[in-house]
Amino acid sequence: MAGKARVHELAKELGVTSKQVLSKLQDMGEYVKSPSSTVEAPVARKLRESMAGGANGAAKPTSRGGRRPSAAPAPAAPAAAAPSRTGARAGAPLGPASAIPVGGGVIYEKAKVVVTQPTAGVYKGFDATCTHQKCLLADVQGGTINCACHGAKYSITDGSVVKPPATEPLPPRKVTVAGGNVSLT
Ligand code: FES
Repeated sequence: MAGKARVHELAKELGVTSKQVLSKLQDMGEYVKSPSSTVEAPVARKLRESMAGGANGAAKPTSRGGRRPSAAPAPAAPAAAAPSRTGARAGAPLGPASAIPVGGGVIYEKAKVVVTQPTAGVYKGFDATCTHQKCLLADVQGGTINCACHGAKYSITDGSVVKPPATEPLPPRKVTVAGGNVSLT
């Protein structure tokens, strides 16, 4: 155990203040407030090693073979926010509603969605994959949603087949208009 008299001596020897030695001994769990006790030799050696380590940088292995507490390992880098793979996911903004003409529509190729406005203020969403042989629909013209592959046409009002060879209607997609933008819901 360590005592005050020996602390002063060690501080002098190590070229630090008594306060620093006290604090180090307390960290090491070796200091007791008894003026009559002394710092035992093994404790003094540990203290020297511990306090000299930072000063001269001589990284001697300790008698215990323990690892010198060096700089704390760098914390794991926070995982970068992975960019989400956007697609036709719910809530995805498609674009400005003003781009969708009354009596027409817009095909959003990336989201594979077609949004029409059959009458003013009424927006309808459909899957933009042709139900015939899975071509991406080409355009919205002449009051119909058109496929360029084999000429199928669909209603802008309900996605039903207006002209074969498609036989199945376009599956509906839920869309909403808010803040002037149309989004999938
Ligand atoms: S894939 Fe569209 S009409 Fe054939």
